[in-house]
Amino acid sequence: MTAYQGSVTARICAWARAYYSKSENHPSFNDYLAEKIIEDDRRLLLNLILKKRRQQGVFKKQVIDLLLPIPVSRSIFAEREFLEFKKINPNAQYLILGAGLDTFAWRSDSEQVSFFEVDHPFFQTIKKQRINTLKLGNRAVFVPVDFKTDSLEQKLLEAGFDKSRPTFVTIMGVSYYLNFETFLSTMRDILKLSDRLTVLFDFYEEKNISDADSRFEELRNLTSLLGEPMSDGYKANNVISALEGLGFEVEHKTPQEIKEKFITGHIQNLKGYSNIHFIKASKN
Ligand SMILES: C[S@@+](CC[C@H](N)C(=O)[O-])C[C@H]1O[C@@H](n2cnc3c(N)ncnc32)[C@H](O)[C@@H]1O
Repeated sequence: MTAYQGSVTARICAWARAYYSKSENHPSFNDYLAEKIIEDDRRLLLNLILKKRRQQGVFKKQVIDLLLPIPVSRSIFAEREFLEFKKINPNAQYLILGAGLDTFAWRSDSEQVSFFEVDHPFFQTIKKQRINTLKLGNRAVFVPVDFKTDSLEQKLLEAGFDKSRPTFVTIMGVSYYLNFETFLSTMRDILKLSDRLTVLFDFYEEKNISDADSRFEELRNLTSLLGEPMSDGYKANNVISALEGLGFEVEHKTPQEIKEKFITGHIQNLKGYSNIHFIKASKN
């Protein structure tokens, strides 16, 4: 039996960003650190995904079609939105929940911005070791939190988070693994963190999985095989009304808008998923 190695999906997302940053002629974001930060995972990812899929007669192009669109399009979304937020709030805090192997804090030239990275304690230990090995410096404050059991606010305050500063929050690739109630409770916790907030996240909708997008079923089967089964998807209307009920102003990017704004012209020859949605929820 292989020892537990923490989130494999987080490694896959970093691999997708590394692949994209190297292969596109004009990448819309350049995660030049992703390749370095997943160096130790090369063998794991090759064995788990590429080799196994090849044995099943699946070729690299299909693996790329499956794995790239979601992490890449949401990174374009997040990095663009953050630039806008920072223009108005140069002294912002950037809080990355379920950060995985995100490297934005170490690529950003925003000296005034403070970065806080929250992740499951086990996985965060691995990331910290890699940041140290690569000698990238103390650009982010690491805050170990399990969303299912810990108080986000308390852990952040203990780590030096400042509730009086405008805060930009991303929770990318996390809702897939939390049921709607746990996710909403995390959003309630986020509301307590600052009076001026923008929160970005992605989620998948169950009902729109069409035959044309059997890819999503494949993706879901893959994450289950990797030991990270997805929870049920959310309904877009429920997400929007619940967030508005909490007092957020909500901007919803439909699968079609994601395709137009973050895929076409950004990721060559790739199709977006028909059931992935992005949300920008703000409190001013
Ligand atoms: C699919 S990965 C996405 C990582 C990163 N946001 C990205 O887009 O590359 C999901 C992340 O959520 C974290 N996560 C999942 N469940 C969690 C929980 N209950 N508490 C804290 N973190 C959790 C995992 O450790 C992992 O880093």
